[in-house]
Amino acid sequence: MNAIQLRLNGKDRRIDGVAPTTMLLDWLRGEGLTGTKEGCAEGDCGACTVAVRRHGKPAAALNACIMPIALAHGAHVTTVEAADHPIKGALVEYHGSQCGFCTPGIVMTIAALPADAPTDRCSLEDALAGNLCRCTGYGPILAAAADAISAAPSPPDAPPEVGSLDMTANGVRFRCPATEDEFAQALAESPDARIIAGATDVGLWMTKHLYEAAEFISIAGVGCLSSIEDDGETLTIGAAVTHADFMAAIHGKAPGVSELMRRFAGPQVRAAGTVCGNIANGSPIGDLPPALIAAGATVEIASATGQRVLPLEDFFIAYGQQDRAAGEYVRALHVPWGGLCAVSCHKVSKRFDSDISAVMAAFNVTLDGGRVSAAGIAFGGMAETPKRASHAEAALLGQPYTPEGVAGAIAALADDFAPLTDLRASAEYRLKVAGNLFIRDAIERGDPAVRTRLAGRAAA
Ligand SMILES: Cc1cc2nc3c(=O)[nH]c(=O)nc-3n(C[C@H](O)[C@H](O)[C@H](O)COP(=O)(O)OP(=O)(O)OC[C@H]3O[C@@H](n4cnc5c(N)ncnc54)[C@H](O)[C@@H]3O)c2cc1C
Ligand code: FES
Ligand code: FES
Repeated sequence: MNAIQLRLNGKDRRIDGVAPTTMLLDWLRGEGLTGTKEGCAEGDCGACTVAVRRHGKPAAALNACIMPIALAHGAHVTTVEAADHPIKGALVEYHGSQCGFCTPGIVMTIAALPADAPTDRCSLEDALAGNLCRCTGYGPILAAAADAISAAPSPPDAPPEVGSLDMTANGVRFRCPATEDEFAQALAESPDARIIAGATDVGLWMTKHLYEAAEFISIAGVGCLSSIEDDGETLTIGAAVTHADFMAAIHGKAPGVSELMRRFAGPQVRAAGTVCGNIANGSPIGDLPPALIAAGATVEIASATGQRVLPLEDFFIAYGQQDRAAGEYVRALHVPWGGLCAVSCHKVSKRFDSDISAVMAAFNVTLDGGRVSAAGIAFGGMAETPKRASHAEAALLGQPYTPEGVAGAIAALADDFAPLTDLRASAEYRLKVAGNLFIRDAIERGDPAVRTRLAGRAAA
């Protein structure tokens, strides 16, 4: 198909002649649907939230500001104008809106929730973690949400399957293949094309750095890569699996990583962004690489001509350089349940929700008679890539896992890392806090009842 096909507020639309990288938000506003607002244009504030329903999936709240319209191919998009939900009246009744700029986004976040979504305070705060209100205060908004959720009407229709997209407009070619063969062939033909998945990084490059490319190939619509396979030993996470789907798969089973995911961005970003995108972007401060390295994950790299699997830690070669040749893509991650369930995570960031880490630590420590018999420890934010703390791991072996017993490992961190100073933290702070996290992990392991976190203790 050479034009975007989507359903907008219940009406089928065919869109051509528009640059496929036009953000959905800009297109909607150009169509006169100006209820959807632009606050930050970077996925942080939620003013641009719309509900998006894809074939075979429930509706999800997404940020329209960083979503190239081509990624809406095949989706049913509902905007605040068409949302028929009691949250609208409840916000009025509870005085949940003052200037009103955030209100359409808040309406759409709540409208995208199922009627049986939990309405306790903590769940509602998590549900609204991607929506910023600068003037009302959250009390009335949470009260309105608690009142309205259970009266939600049925969700918008699921759209039909529409097949792949290959469109060129305004000098940009954008392909959304529906099968993996099609994707791999497209990438083999155009190895310089930009792979795009949830666009929660790439969308920001576009809005903030005015990034342009002549060709994009989306992996997000490749059906067979959007599922998580579980053989009881290993979880296989395909390249199109979102953070939200990953969270659902590990819920109640992997408490440390679940708690990390709760603090990973906000719901709108988690509904679009992919687990494999968080690896493939090669960022030294991504949250999942340290957690999955410590869990013992491997990464599957594929191309039109074959596949190979390597330990995740070996994928990261240097800043901006990963072990991925032209024409190759990250196909999947394989994560052993044993490691995934054992990992404890420590994310240090300025805000609890929706913030990038200054330091991210993941510990997978096995004890035998109170002493460390095996350790897999990885950090983000401490080097030019996510990296294992191999000197610290060696120093832990045979030691009691106590605040005193980790002293040697803390000292060894200086052999593992020479962190940078940047706007998030100084080098000295990073080294100090990384050491302190060993003490916190040992205390938490020793006595799960001790309160070591302001919120969200990763207890089972
Ligand atoms: C508001 C906000 C908050 C955020 N908070 C966090 C946070 O708390 N923690 C955190 O770690 N990150 C955070 N992020 C970053 C981002 O959400 C993640 O990195 C996300 O996982 C990227 O996945 P994506 O599918 O959106 O990737 P995209 O943006 O589509 O792509 C990212 C990069 O990976 C490449 N790529 C994607 N998939 C593949 C593949 N299968 N094979 C090869 N290359 C591929 C693309 O070419 C691109 O270079 C945040 C982002 C935003 C906007
Ligand atoms: S405008 Fe702020 S999240 Fe989209
Ligand atoms: S009512 Fe003004 S930002 Fe929320």
